[in-house]
Amino acid sequence: MPAPVPRRLRRLLCLDDFERAASRHLPRPVFGYMVGAAETGQSLRGNRGAFARHAFLPRVLVDVSQRSQEVTLFGRSYASPFGLAPLGLSALSAYRGDLVMALAAAQANVPMIMSGSSLIPLEQVAAQCPDAWFQAYLPGDEANIVALIERVEKAGFSTLVVTVDTQVPPNNENFVRMGFSAPLRPSLRLVWDGLVRPRWLFGTFLRTLAQHGMPHFENNYAKRGAPILSSSVLRDFSDRGHLNWRHFALIRQLWKGRLVIKGILNVDDARLARDAGADGIIVSNHGGRQLDGAVAPLQVLPGIAAACSDLPVMLDGGVRRGTDVLKALALGARMVFVGRPFGYAAAVGGQAGVRHAIELLSKEVSRDMAMLGIVRLDELSADQLVASV
Ligand code: FNR
Repeated sequence: MPAPVPRRLRRLLCLDDFERAASRHLPRPVFGYMVGAAETGQSLRGNRGAFARHAFLPRVLVDVSQRSQEVTLFGRSYASPFGLAPLGLSALSAYRGDLVMALAAAQANVPMIMSGSSLIPLEQVAAQCPDAWFQAYLPGDEANIVALIERVEKAGFSTLVVTVDTQVPPNNENFVRMGFSAPLRPSLRLVWDGLVRPRWLFGTFLRTLAQHGMPHFENNYAKRGAPILSSSVLRDFSDRGHLNWRHFALIRQLWKGRLVIKGILNVDDARLARDAGADGIIVSNHGGRQLDGAVAPLQVLPGIAAACSDLPVMLDGGVRRGTDVLKALALGARMVFVGRPFGYAAAVGGQAGVRHAIELLSKEVSRDMAMLGIVRLDELSADQLVASV
C-alpha cells in the first residue's frame, strides 16, 4: 500500500499543477531556471504540440480488468514506462533534491537519472540508491573524461547516460531576464527574491547551508567544482565544442556498464551511436533548452526506433500526461522520461511530492490503457494513432 498523500499535496491533481505550485514556492531566479527554455521557446512549445498532433483510435468491449504497465528495460522490470530525467541543480530547488528524487523513484520502481550538474556528491546518491543512473556531460579533455568515468564506476553506478547536445552553453538571455546565473551572484535583488519565498529560504536553502555547507557543483568532473553562490568564481564550463565520436568511443572503451546516449534527434546520429556501442538512445532536445527550433523528439522517434530496432530507444520532452506516455510508446519508445514536473514536485513536496507525481502519472497510464482497450504495453503500435486535425 503506498503511503497516504500528505494533505498539502492533495490539491495537486496532475503534473501541470506542480508547475503552478513551484512558481509560488521558488524564488524567481530558481523557478526561472527550471521553467526556462532557449530563446523564443519554439522547441519547448513544439514538444507539447507534437503530442497534440496524434489522436487515439481506441477499441471497446475488450476485457481490460487486469492491466499491467510493467516494462522490461536492460534486463530488469520497471513498474511504469516512465522515469525521471536528469535535472541540474536539483538540490537548489529542493532540499537534497537529487536524493529525494532517487529515493522516490526507487520506492516506485521507476528509473531515475541523476544529473552531472548536481550539487550532491554522486557517491552519496549511489550509496542510498544503487539503481539510479548517472548522467555525465563529457569534460573537454581526455584526462578528465577518464577520471570522471573512474569515479562514477567506483561509486557503483551501473548505467551511464552521456548527454551530447550541449556542445556550447545555450543562449542565456532568458536566464538573465529571470536573474539566474550559475553561480548565482549575491545582490540585493537576490536577497529580496529569497526573502519573499520564506518556505524555500528556510526549508531548502538555509537548511542546506546549515546541514551540508555551501553547495558546489560536485559531479561535472572527478573533482569538486564552483560554489552555487559566489560574487567572483566563474564556473568551469570548459569548452566542449571539439568533442566528437572518438570521445564517445573512448567512453565506450572505458565504461563497462550500460551506456546510454542522450540528446539524439537525427537518425544518422542514432545509427552512429548504435555502431559506437551505445546500449540505449534517449531522443531528446533537452526540453527545448539548447537549440531553439530543434525538432520535437516525438516527431523523429518513429524513424529512429525503426533504424535502431535492436536497442531500446527512449524519449523525453513535453511528456505531461499518461496519454503522452502511451503515444510515445506507440511510436516506438521503450521508456519515456519526464523532466521539469518531477523537479517541481521535489521542490514543493520533497520525496512525498515526487512519489505523488509518479503516482498521478501512473494512474493516468493505467486508466488510459483501459480506455484504449489494452492490458499490456506491448499491444501498443502506431496503428492505434491517427493524425489529429
Ligand atoms: C534539464 N535537462 C538536463 N539534461 C541533462 O542531460 N543534464 C542536466 O543536467 C539537465 N539539467 C536540466 C535542468 C533543468 C532545470 C531542466 C528543466 C532540464 C534536460 C532534461 O533532462 C530533459 O531532457 C528535459 O527536461 C525533458 O523535457 P521536459 O520533460 O522538462 O519537458
